Amino acid sequence: MSDEAAAPAMPRIGDAAPAFTAVTTQGMINFPADYEGKWVILFSHPADFTPVCTSEFMTFATMQDEFLAYNTELVGLSVDGLYSHIAWLRTIKEKIRFRDMENVEVTFPLIEDITMNVARKYGMIMPGEATTKAVRAVFFIDPKGIIRTIIYYPLSVGRNFDELLRVVKALQTADAFEVALPADWRPGERVIVPTAGSCGVAKDRMEGAVEGIECEDWFFCTRPISAEEVEATIRKG
Ligand code: BEZ
Repeated sequence: MSDEAAAPAMPRIGDAAPAFTAVTTQGMINFPADYEGKWVILFSHPADFTPVCTSEFMTFATMQDEFLAYNTELVGLSVDGLYSHIAWLRTIKEKIRFRDMENVEVTFPLIEDITMNVARKYGMIMPGEATTKAVRAVFFIDPKGIIRTIIYYPLSVGRNFDELLRVVKALQTADAFEVALPADWRPGERVIVPTAGSCGVAKDRMEGAVEGIECEDWFFCTRPISAEEVEATIRKG
């Protein structure tokens, strides 16, 4: 059997998040069942005691309350063992400064995955990049346990955390208002009114249908939603 044939199928957007139980720095977790009703960012990092991962963990931990405000929990994973995780997180808190962050305590769970069972299930091991480490994968999982977005970064590039938070807000806004979000959308900018099924609907009929709607053509209609309305709808904390 070729390597490719032996590789497990990678989860895709729209799939149920593969289930697992695991030991973490915060105790056992039963994933995704323990997170029912919440959004989760499940992310992998290549290795403890490495600098890019350290900068990412400090940033995730510093932004944790902002993610929680959008009902979004963080769960990390690497193929290191529990005692390595604990020692690394203690070192981060006691010794590391990065930008304006110091004394940073990581309180979200970090999964130990020395068997690589979870990393393999989620397609986090990419042999062309590394066979013994996970790449920087980010899975956005919704309150029903469905994978809604997947982003991968290589070992050498740290994640963009503004983008991770933007994706959380965008997914929740898309769901709440039944709209789509254009390139680089941020709360307060116009949203796309889906035109699925409206092929052939005249531009002026679309324009009459929703308040504030503007159409460039039958397939490209937008409407305003204020930042206040977005935040009032999706922000929970
Ligand atoms: C890092 O996080 O710094 C890192 C980890 C694995 C390979 C290269 C860099």
